[in-house]
Amino acid sequence: MTGKKRILSGMRPTGPLHLGNLHGALANWIKQQDNYDCFFFIADWHALTSDYEDTGSIPDNIRDMMVDWLSTGLSPEKSTLFVQSQVKEHAELFLLLSMITPVPWLERNPTYKDQILQLSNKDLSTFGFLGYPVLQASDIIIYKADCVPVGIDQVPHVEITREIARRFNNFYGEVFPEPKALLTKTPKILGLDRRKMSKSYNNAIYLSDNNETIASKTAKMITDPQRAKKSDPGNPEICNVFDFHKMYSNIDTISEVNENCRKAKIGCVECKKNMTVNLIKALEPICEKRAYYVSKPDLVDDIFKTGTNKARSVAQKTMEEVRSVVRI
Ligand code: TRP
Ligand code: SF4
Repeated sequence: MTGKKRILSGMRPTGPLHLGNLHGALANWIKQQDNYDCFFFIADWHALTSDYEDTGSIPDNIRDMMVDWLSTGLSPEKSTLFVQSQVKEHAELFLLLSMITPVPWLERNPTYKDQILQLSNKDLSTFGFLGYPVLQASDIIIYKADCVPVGIDQVPHVEITREIARRFNNFYGEVFPEPKALLTKTPKILGLDRRKMSKSYNNAIYLSDNNETIASKTAKMITDPQRAKKSDPGNPEICNVFDFHKMYSNIDTISEVNENCRKAKIGCVECKKNMTVNLIKALEPICEKRAYYVSKPDLVDDIFKTGTNKARSVAQKTMEEVRSVVRI
């Protein structure tokens, strides 16, 4: 026992990670590794709740996600990193929890209604999609997690988890602590078009993008829309490129850009180029680690195996307790 509180969180393997993910969830996870006993997992069963028809890309997505995690600083020495579907105990607990979860709790889940509207191209009228929060509850409480670092959109799911845990404890005895959501701040950078960075908006820079791709993406970034000509003074406050400078350039550059932009002494093309150099430099260590892990598939396999075994032994212990109190 480490004596540290335990946190657990997961990501669905729906595609490569981008800068928004890095500066949001991932940075927060990396930071927590020294403060908590951390469990982080790839939620492949959850990916199936909406993408059940074409599952072909899931294996590659799982591996890519682990490589992204490792190259940004999640550490298999500090944290337990694993894949949900490799710990079958989640499914057993999911089944038992489904027996005690009232359907109206799931039907009134705001995420449920919202997603059905947003993903109208998919048929989400499935049992599995309705039960998404029950599977998530089993992910969380099977490790008796104290806290769950998530974005604001996932808070209703943690709330349902607490309700399910409470109901279980009422029926069968105190087995599960009620986990708390640990809110992740929203990332400081937006997508290329200044909307939230997202795969579905096609406005993301991925951790796996090469330098040329990054440069061609940043070249298309929207700047101060009022600034038509180089001789027009600009306003960095409303410019996305300036936000990126604030993330990736040093203090001197930031204040130079701030001044020169307002005095029309620098053009946007040059300004973007300077920012891009710094962005690429900042991503270099990630890029190098990425190449390292890509070249060492056996090492990554080992990391999957070790993490999964660690997670499984905790989950098995909880399930012994669960079976005993449920008497099944
Ligand atoms: N639903 C989460 C998301 O889409 C992923 C997830 C699955 C999760 N199980 C979890 C997050 C358990 C935290 C804890 O982001
Ligand atoms: Fe933005 Fe730089 Fe152009 Fe100013 S000079 S509007 S900060 S890109």
